[in-house]
Amino acid sequence: MRDSIRFLKAGKIIELEDVGQTETVLDYLRLRLRQTGTKEGCGEGDCGACTVALGRLIDGKLIYQPVNSCIQLLAMIDGAELVTVEDLVDDGRLHPVQKALAEMNGSQCGFCTPGFVMSMFTLYHAEGQTKSRKAVTEWLAGNLCRCTGYRPIIDAALATCFDAADDAFSWRAGETREKLRELADSRDIYIGNSEGFVASPASLDGLAALYAQHPDATLVAGATDVGLWITKHLRQLPKVIWLGRIENLNRVEETPSGALIGATATYQASQEAIARLSPDLGELWRRIGSKQVRASGTVGGNIANGSPIGDTPPALIALGATLELQDQASSRTLDLEEFFIDYGKQDRGPGEFVTGLFVPRPTPNQIFRCYKISKRFDQDISAVMAAFLFTVVDGTITEARIAYGGMAATPKRAKSAETALIGASLENPSTWGAAMTALFSDYTPMTDMRASAEYRIETARALMAKALMEASGTAPATLRLRTPMVEAAE
Ligand code: FAD
Ligand code: FES
Ligand code: FES
Repeated sequence: MRDSIRFLKAGKIIELEDVGQTETVLDYLRLRLRQTGTKEGCGEGDCGACTVALGRLIDGKLIYQPVNSCIQLLAMIDGAELVTVEDLVDDGRLHPVQKALAEMNGSQCGFCTPGFVMSMFTLYHAEGQTKSRKAVTEWLAGNLCRCTGYRPIIDAALATCFDAADDAFSWRAGETREKLRELADSRDIYIGNSEGFVASPASLDGLAALYAQHPDATLVAGATDVGLWITKHLRQLPKVIWLGRIENLNRVEETPSGALIGATATYQASQEAIARLSPDLGELWRRIGSKQVRASGTVGGNIANGSPIGDTPPALIALGATLELQDQASSRTLDLEEFFIDYGKQDRGPGEFVTGLFVPRPTPNQIFRCYKISKRFDQDISAVMAAFLFTVVDGTITEARIAYGGMAATPKRAKSAETALIGASLENPSTWGAAMTALFSDYTPMTDMRASAEYRIETARALMAKALMEASGTAPATLRLRTPMVEAAE
């Protein structure tokens, strides 16, 4: 057992015993260290001003990822290298990305600049990136600038981020890897007492025992939801259990029949396996939040959160995914759709937690499509999310699984529409109408700040028509249609 967290900063191992349950990395930097280079803008993961880099060993390689320090809990950096804008200057010399930003006029008021610098620092260190404007805009989508304009910032990234890294971090990478190996241990972390603590078990058994004893504790995976409970809802969370150190809980395994995604596997870590199941699913993963959100956020958290507008559940339900849960006494598997009982209510008992999910691979006679409709293309949660899995034999739909998000109190299947589609011919659009009408009996959506009820139902119907047209070959796949358009625009 350890009663401290340990991490690396500026080449030194830092050990802290006083770690608040809800203390964020940003507060640690600004309030404790008085390192105010890292800025606070929105405090909710949207603007990127607070971006810092976390270096971790992944399959033995030192990988730097950008995270939003405003919603990253301090305990979550245990075992990592924390890099902030203050750490980049080497012997009085600016880092290459800082120099390029300055020389190419990529900064005016400068408030966003440290965040851009840190995101660019992680791109500078990322291997295998193809140099393109698209690669840069995708990487920087989680950083907002309100006065400079993005062109000079993107130019600075294009000028510096795609050659082999040649900075103080690459020169001392061997030493950093050594220190990170030193920090990795399999001791449980427990800071506090039975009334209030932040803990991080190193094993599933340790988690099961601790959570059985404290079923009122808040489980934290990537904190991209929980972080906002702290910064925006000002919630007190007396007992916090971070799941990020549990061995194998972050596994991603591909089999011929599908992919197993561990509960703490981040979007970033599972993206390639998911895209191999279906390009549409890969595109959905890519559109979740930003690079920063995908580096921390997990699909396990997206499901366990139980939100009716979470992006992944409708797609996973349509594909027939199953969820694995465990408590101290036993484990069980259930169809994902059964997990969502009602608004804010999931099928999860006291002391029970999600360990992973299995996503089946569509078979050759199945067609899968999913669409996310949001006000902004990047970094936005959907107003309507739709997913379709059609089993087709000789041009006739023999089975349909359809699920929507944003249409009901939970992510929900369109059972009447599914039934109405059986026997429909892909070649004959007049056989699709009954299913589109059936959506009116499947859903009574709400009006809220994201969309009106009328917009939602009409969008749901239009997306079904779109999926059927794509399946029949009378409309090109959205994914193939959009990608060349985006590339041409760039
Ligand atoms: P956490 O915040 O750690 O936890 C979320 C919930 O799940 C909590 O209730 C927690 O107790 C519980 N939990 C976590 N792990 C487990 C477990 N193993 N067992 C039981 N309970 C568990 N969401 C989208 O769907 N689409 C988006 O495009 C999107 N964009 C976002 C953009 C921003 C800027 C931010 C801040 C959030 C965004 N989100 C989006 C929401 C969020 O990123 C996702 O819901 C994410 O998947 C949550 O995962 P997490 O690991 O961060 O969960
Ligand atoms: Fe805006 Fe953290 S302050 S993302
Ligand atoms: Fe002012 Fe970007 S330089 S917000």
